[in-house]
Amino acid sequence: MSSIESVLHECRKFQPHELFVKHATISGIDSYHALCASADSDYASFWGGFARKEIDWKKAFNHILDESNIPFYRWFYDGELNASYNCLDRHLAKSSNKTAIIFEADDGSVSKVTYHELYIRVCKFSNALKDMGISHGDRVIIYMPMSIEAVVAMQACARIGAIHSVVFGGFSAKSLHERITDVGAKTIICANYGVRGGKSVPLKATVDEALSLGGCESVNKVIVYQRINQDTPWSLDRDFWWHELVENASDYCEPVWVNSEHPLFILYTSGSTGKPKGVQHSTGGYLLGTIMSMKWVFDFKDEDIFWCTADVGWITGHSYVAYGPLAIGGTQVLFEGIPTYPDAGRFWQMIEKHKVSIFYTAPTAIRSLIKVGADFPGKYDLSSLRLLGTVGEPINPEAWMWYFQEIGKERCPIVDTWWQTETGAHMIAPLPGAVATKPGSCTLPLPGIIMDIVDEEGNHVEGVGGGLLVAKKPWPSMIRSIWGDPERFKKSYFPTELKGAYLAGDSAHRDEDGYYWIMGRIDDVLNVSGHRLGTMEIESALVANPLVAEAAVVGKPHEIKGESVIAYVVLKGLRPEGDEAKRIVAELREWVGKEIGPIAKPDEIRFGDNLPKTRSGKIMRRLLRSLAKGEEITSDISTLDNPSILEQLKQSVI
Ligand code: WT7
Repeated sequence: MSSIESVLHECRKFQPHELFVKHATISGIDSYHALCASADSDYASFWGGFARKEIDWKKAFNHILDESNIPFYRWFYDGELNASYNCLDRHLAKSSNKTAIIFEADDGSVSKVTYHELYIRVCKFSNALKDMGISHGDRVIIYMPMSIEAVVAMQACARIGAIHSVVFGGFSAKSLHERITDVGAKTIICANYGVRGGKSVPLKATVDEALSLGGCESVNKVIVYQRINQDTPWSLDRDFWWHELVENASDYCEPVWVNSEHPLFILYTSGSTGKPKGVQHSTGGYLLGTIMSMKWVFDFKDEDIFWCTADVGWITGHSYVAYGPLAIGGTQVLFEGIPTYPDAGRFWQMIEKHKVSIFYTAPTAIRSLIKVGADFPGKYDLSSLRLLGTVGEPINPEAWMWYFQEIGKERCPIVDTWWQTETGAHMIAPLPGAVATKPGSCTLPLPGIIMDIVDEEGNHVEGVGGGLLVAKKPWPSMIRSIWGDPERFKKSYFPTELKGAYLAGDSAHRDEDGYYWIMGRIDDVLNVSGHRLGTMEIESALVANPLVAEAAVVGKPHEIKGESVIAYVVLKGLRPEGDEAKRIVAELREWVGKEIGPIAKPDEIRFGDNLPKTRSGKIMRRLLRSLAKGEEITSDISTLDNPSILEQLKQSVI
């Protein structure tokens, strides 16, 4: 409630700076309204027009939107294109020598590639993949650190019509294994090690471990990029060095032209059950979403230096590192390291060094940099910046104001972008030269994106009010299905009560200006440091430990991470106390790190003889949430079967 209170009392409003408005692509609120009106009057033609203008098609489409099998919408579905051609080849005539990527390694060394060089590297690697037997429709797992090679790997898959599924390098062997088997991958592309914060992280060893878990018969090759010269475990008949494969590969590779609906990639994300969902995206519609948002929300200009700090393992790194910036022929910074190494000034130092003009990061990073290094921004020249962005979770007004004043010097608009793995691109965000901003609000939907707030029966909430956030119309970059589970796709996102609307899974509030304020998830999904974690996933991981009988996981507000993970655990043996309890806590945290990944480790574990349950055996998470926050329980507990357990759990803080 307190976060809701604080944003609802927020009434500061910032008009876009005059200078910014003057040069903005969408300039002034009237231009924004005109675009929205044009989308309203003919929804399909609105998107069709942009799709024709912004994408190079091998075969033009005649049909814009197919609604014959709702909710399996198809966009531009008789058109043919190639995403890599749109990101590379089409820029060569004009921008062959333009820098595509400025890569800064963990140790500060910098390497740059032009569009022509990137094109050659993608062609060579595409040919290497073809030689490995990869072709149209095959699934390829990419388990790479932030690197030019990671982008090359994704683009090369796109070039030959293979479907990539990037797994974040922080996920454990178990999580990687689950994704490999679910997607039926034929090949894995990884690095031998990653380098972050001065330390090397074994990646190839984790791939080997994942493959040893069984059921990975589909995988017959592993391609390894040698990031550092260090011992790397090796299987002679299965593993190949990246550099050896591309050495003699041809530097021309004809793109494989695919249907607009051909899956460009599958990206796993957490839902409210234990099993992650393979979010399946299209080619044409997805690309259009990234292009339009680069232009509208980031107001991208030819001379901009764009930097999105997200890892390619998340959707933000797909849309605003691997595809969006390249599709519009922009220059971007790609960073291998972490914001606090060698010190908490790293981001600001890099902005100065590379003259970054558009900077896009997560609220959790901003909050942690305020906490550990509020003095750092003052040491650097940040005058190259003209636009700032945030994504991943609600930004608290205090952090927004700091970002606005200390980083943007009150010159740079802040675009707070609400979207999801499933939406592919920004959905609600200010067009910076048109829409006034309010700290903590993602403001208004993009033109052509029809959002609403509804009650549980799907009825529109009129005027000021709160409820479920939904999209009332399909949009080009939307999720197409859950890989291998179309029924789950229908059930999760288009529940019958909502009469055809897309359920985002967030609750939201609309203010008197029609601005959206995101209040958080409505399902059993936590948002820890901008990363989505399913409580069920963590619970299943805990219960898989031989010591554990039962577990319930809830979130608790956290100053920096947004939310922290609190686990209530019942052991098979006696409830532990003292040093023994501490030892088991450490063991279980490690265990979850191994089962899912370090990001999912519970911040606190509390032991009980039981969990609060209803007579029918359902865990009352609402009570656990209150306990976790240290709140008095004042709500109704008449359905609770074992009220005495509350007292015990209250005492259980270790
Ligand atoms: C969930 C999606 C989209 C890329 C990163 C996360 C939350 C995202 C915002 C924002 C408030 C936000 C929502 C959403 N979220 N952006 N600007 N303001 N909340 O992608 O892992 O798919 O998570 O992140 O709860 O549903 P994701």
